[in-house]
Amino acid sequence: PRHYRIVSLPGEGIGPEVVDATLAVLQQVAQLHSFTVAVEYGWLGQPAVQRFGRAFPQETARQCEGCDGIVLGAVTQGLLEIRQHFNLFINLRPVRPTPCLFPASALKSERLAGVDILFVRELASGIYFGESGRGNDSGSGYGYHTMRYADAEIRRIAKAALNQAQQRRHKLTVAHKENALPQIPWTALVHEEARDFPNILVEPMLADNLAMQLILKPQQFDVVLAGNLFGDILSDIGGALTGSIGLLGSASLNGQGFGLYEPIHGTAPDIAGKGIANPLGAIASIVLMLQQWGETTAAQQILDTQETLLSQGYCTADLCSQRSQTQVTTQEFTDLFLENLRQNNS
Ligand code: IPM
Ligand code: MN
Repeated sequence: PRHYRIVSLPGEGIGPEVVDATLAVLQQVAQLHSFTVAVEYGWLGQPAVQRFGRAFPQETARQCEGCDGIVLGAVTQGLLEIRQHFNLFINLRPVRPTPCLFPASALKSERLAGVDILFVRELASGIYFGESGRGNDSGSGYGYHTMRYADAEIRRIAKAALNQAQQRRHKLTVAHKENALPQIPWTALVHEEARDFPNILVEPMLADNLAMQLILKPQQFDVVLAGNLFGDILSDIGGALTGSIGLLGSASLNGQGFGLYEPIHGTAPDIAGKGIANPLGAIASIVLMLQQWGETTAAQQILDTQETLLSQGYCTADLCSQRSQTQVTTQEFTDLFLENLRQNNS
């Protein structure tokens, strides 16, 4: 039988809660679809600092080496280090609002119908990793972060985004800010790479306008490519479209298909330990992992189950806005999820 080894890095805040739920779902679909997943636990973020004195210790790096996927909860530190260590430059963030949650979004339902966006965010370079520092100019302190992109870094993420568009609706919108930052030529480089993809429409769009368009007319987008910082900001708009950032998952991949899978949300210290966190963002991330593995029927079964439960009105506190809904805890939602997976398989 197919056998996978993953490393789970639960992290901090609500991270461990949503990872617990997600791994239970993963083991259930593994059983139902005849593959096995061996899970090792590792240290990242605050717990790693306490134990090893570093947010991303060597021990964790070695443990993750050669595994089939890293399942991350949420951390406040160590994230940029692990992304860079494994050269995870491709960050995929799908956003597909489901009709049963349209009321949870601030946007009108007619603007949400049919929205299906894939954000492709460059994750291993740009201003997050440029030269930075603090200095002092005649008694007045200052700080700086530098946005730097090698042309080759733009080309490789452009190729990844074009490949995604090829498998979708053949449109690629490129976020840029060349009216103010002309030295980083996203538009020209993506157009060059797109010569190998003649059936894909490449549309450059200023990042500020793109933010507005995502709210005004999200249906116009298929794949949205953005650098590290713009991609971070723009993809959070996905939380406004779907109704909660708690629903969104992501895959962070190197060029060879090795990946780290994490929800887009943070550690949410305000609700940590209360058992009310939404596990669907973390679950959406392992759907991406299963798709990456080629376990597509298992991935689809998870998506179907999510749809069933949400349409029956079950949801965690972040999504409960209507009387017709039933607010459940993380644990209750997970139990319902497992039960539904088993029922739909027999
Ligand atoms: C994300 C997060 C991180 C980022 C933070 C925690 C550094 O916001 O993954 O979207 O900015 O990349
Ligand atoms: Mn973010």
